[in-house]
Amino acid sequence: MVPQVKDTDELRRQAEQILEDNDRGGYTVPSSMLYPFQWNWDSCFTALGVHTFDPDRAWRELETLAEHQWDDGMIPHIVFHEGDDRYFPGPAVWGTSGQSPRAADGILTSGITQPPVLGMALEALWSRTDLDDPALRQRAMRLLDAADRWHQWFVNARDPHGQGLVAIIHPWESGRDNSVDWDEGLTAVRTDRLLPYRRRDTDHVDAGQRPTDADYDRFMSLLQTFRSHGWAQSVLHDASPFCMIDPGFNACLIASDRSLARVAGGLGRSDLATRATLRADTMTSALDALWNPGLGQFSCWNRVAGTRSDNASVGGLLPLLALSPSDPRSTLLMARIERWMDVAPFGLASQDPTSEAFDPVRYWRGPSWLVVNWLLVNGLHAHGRADLASRLIESSLTSVSTSGFREYFNPMTGQGLGGHRFSWTASMTLAFLAKLRRC
Ligand code: GLC
Repeated sequence: MVPQVKDTDELRRQAEQILEDNDRGGYTVPSSMLYPFQWNWDSCFTALGVHTFDPDRAWRELETLAEHQWDDGMIPHIVFHEGDDRYFPGPAVWGTSGQSPRAADGILTSGITQPPVLGMALEALWSRTDLDDPALRQRAMRLLDAADRWHQWFVNARDPHGQGLVAIIHPWESGRDNSVDWDEGLTAVRTDRLLPYRRRDTDHVDAGQRPTDADYDRFMSLLQTFRSHGWAQSVLHDASPFCMIDPGFNACLIASDRSLARVAGGLGRSDLATRATLRADTMTSALDALWNPGLGQFSCWNRVAGTRSDNASVGGLLPLLALSPSDPRSTLLMARIERWMDVAPFGLASQDPTSEAFDPVRYWRGPSWLVVNWLLVNGLHAHGRADLASRLIESSLTSVSTSGFREYFNPMTGQGLGGHRFSWTASMTLAFLAKLRRC
């Protein structure tokens, strides 16, 4: 497929401009209206694009995130650097002041986490760095330690019974907030004692592209439950009525641990490299339990109910990042990626486009996202499918060049959806353009 991208220089210029406009000094907001704070995995992806034109600023993006790591090791999903009433739920609703490390400076955080892609981002920056520069080695070392502590926190707090995989306790932790994957698990979340609230997301984006009110009630109920436990992460896993094992989330953790092991090797930190490899090996073996032979891909496990989901989302394709090329399941995953792209050609759908639940416009229930495409492009390259990786890059760039730097895209038509002038879309555009130049 020839990219339908008219002017790549112009696209690059626009992407850089968006990232500069969304830069708040040390951190980048995902989108100025819809998401006016720092988001965890957004920042990691953003650093990749920023690195193509301002490497120092890219390192800073990751450092700012790591500065808000909790004492127990968790890196939170949102850092509320400045007050902004346009977003709900804000810091007063989360109420984490006892745990947020910079609370004394008035900077609070949310109380949950997000997909661990910091390790992958660190390796991407590190691999383009002058390895002889002592200052950069120092910066890399600090980030390496922060990511290692975070990964160890996952093992302790999100797999407290040593089952081998880590759980998410809120759909927002998955990063795929509104996926069909969470529907079943959410039915166990009671809303009869919910305190009143008013959502703000639908002030900025068409309600048809956002979660329903019934789902939003459950999201808020979980938050209020965790808050009632004083955000003691050591008890939340067992206390939460929602506890899901997401193959995509675990695959990110495995891939990030492998990245940490390589960076640690380069920095002479063999202790850390051994620890990260051990964690990755343990999780990779445990991933077998999530293979769904009926679907020919991975699917979620509900740890509260003890049941397997039969939903086919992109989360179940992401283990391509974790499997070895000789694993026969990788061939099956790649066949599915190809099939999905045949049916829905603009990027990769977030939900099997042939499934009944597929909705091409409602967020995470069908639309394609450039960050997920980027993860899978890496997986496809590692498995020798440069052809399919290029197709994914080209269709992603085509969506952006026709519809703008939107938050997500209708995978059937390439129509842009959700927020505008979105940082991670701009960043992934730069990363994809750089990849094309290197090929
Ligand atoms: C949405 C996405 C989430 C992202 C956030 C900020 O909530 O689902 O993955 O981190 O927006 O862009």
